[in-house]
Amino acid sequence: MPKHKIVSETTHTDCTIIPIFEEEQLAPQVSVMSEKIHENVVSLFASKDFEGKHLQQSFVYNQHDVSPRTLLIGLGKKEDCTIEKWKKVVGSATIAAQNKKCKKIKLVIPQYIIDLFGIENTAQEGVIAAHTAAYSFDQHKEEGDRTTTIDTIFWYLDSSKTDAWEAGLASGIHIAESVNFARHLGNTPPSEMTPESLANAAKDLGKEYTTLTVNVLEKEKIKELGMGCLLGVSQGSILQPKFIIIEYLHGKQEERPMVFVGKGITFDSGGLSLKPDPYIRDMKFDMLGAATVLGILRAAAALGLKQNIVGLVPTCENMPSGSSYRPDDILRAMNGKTVLIQNTDAEGRLILADALSYASQYKPKHVVDFATLTGACVVALGNERSGLFTKDDNTAIALQKAAEKTGEKLWRLPLGEEYSEAMKCEVADLKNIGGVGGARYAGASTAAAFLEYFTDYPWTHIDLSCSSYGEKGKSWIRGGANGFGVQTIISYLKNNA
Ligand code: BES
Ligand code: MG
Ligand code: ZN
Repeated sequence: MPKHKIVSETTHTDCTIIPIFEEEQLAPQVSVMSEKIHENVVSLFASKDFEGKHLQQSFVYNQHDVSPRTLLIGLGKKEDCTIEKWKKVVGSATIAAQNKKCKKIKLVIPQYIIDLFGIENTAQEGVIAAHTAAYSFDQHKEEGDRTTTIDTIFWYLDSSKTDAWEAGLASGIHIAESVNFARHLGNTPPSEMTPESLANAAKDLGKEYTTLTVNVLEKEKIKELGMGCLLGVSQGSILQPKFIIIEYLHGKQEERPMVFVGKGITFDSGGLSLKPDPYIRDMKFDMLGAATVLGILRAAAALGLKQNIVGLVPTCENMPSGSSYRPDDILRAMNGKTVLIQNTDAEGRLILADALSYASQYKPKHVVDFATLTGACVVALGNERSGLFTKDDNTAIALQKAAEKTGEKLWRLPLGEEYSEAMKCEVADLKNIGGVGGARYAGASTAAAFLEYFTDYPWTHIDLSCSSYGEKGKSWIRGGANGFGVQTIISYLKNNA
């Protein structure tokens, strides 16, 4: 990952990046430009080829300048500026420079941005944007075709408050590394990122951060605890299920912990209710809830948060075979409730049923689960926004605020009696699929309502199907897993200690 330097004078780099607002007449930025470049830029504006519109880009060249290239990037209108827009500008500029094989880049920070978001926050969110943009998953490609590694980012600022900037950089680096850690788990092919590898990744975190206590329950223990749903889902695969427990207990002793639960299906073929092509593609990402939870625990430890936090990850593979669980089977979850299987592809809610039951022993302050749970959530919200389900209005508002502060997007969807009713069953306590008014109507809400049966504490469910990965990249982030949720939860934990 890149190193960072704060500069306020001329520094030689491969690219100077100058973000510009639509209404700006260049005046504030002239000091960082040579006269030659300035002349060029004025002509560029005159031609209207560059107007400062959000994410508009233009390279200007002068081989005799301190940086041989200057990248102008639009910030859009001042009145529309949000942290999300600022981060997209930093991310897009980073990727654009990286694509030109730049190793040292200099980013000019507009004073207006610092005044708007505060110096520490501007730095923190800026470095998250730059590091997440610079990350690529390409170690399987030929060496010459891989993305250039940026070695240094120079932050050019007028402000004398470099201490606050340093503090923002430091926390931003921890958060960004945790986001990229989660993305890497997700991007790794399913033959490599097995339940065992996921458990090993958690154990390695425990070695890296001695404040994290990691415990992995093996199949025998899972059986002994009565986690019949996790066992049932896993039984078609040759790989053994695992149940990962990560504890970070650094708050007051009497303080109830926050518990995060993450769906860890390392590949979801659908099981005997096999997914047809193309829906079976990208199902390596069905462990992104787990990746987010590991990322949250890593970030909490790296930042040294003074809180009690627990991460729970049920993990297995959902595969068809002669030993698979079947439609018509009845499974018993850890809390004693029985579930009739009607579709083996509705497996995420099953493994979460056991994990949510397990969470009860912590007497949690609140439990938040993350899961790539339903295609229905993608139908409702598209692939940039995650679904938020809770009966606790205060938590919903706090999480939405936290998300807004980081540029992640959450939208509240309903829980309610009709959805809970739809999951009841004649031959067992519950069934694993249901709809309201039609077989699959309200699929995201019925899935959430199913999970609610396994909770006896304040609880929130976040459905991150699709919003946690993109097949294609965007100008500010490359394709693949994006680590959705890590940033929001860290922002939430910092503000709700
Ligand atoms: N992992 C999928 C949900 C999913 C779909 C995530 C698309 C990301 C993108 C989940 O296990 C699943 O298969 N859900 C089924 C439920 C259905 C059988 C009620 C679905 O959404 O089709
Ligand atoms: Mg499925
Ligand atoms: Zn799944």
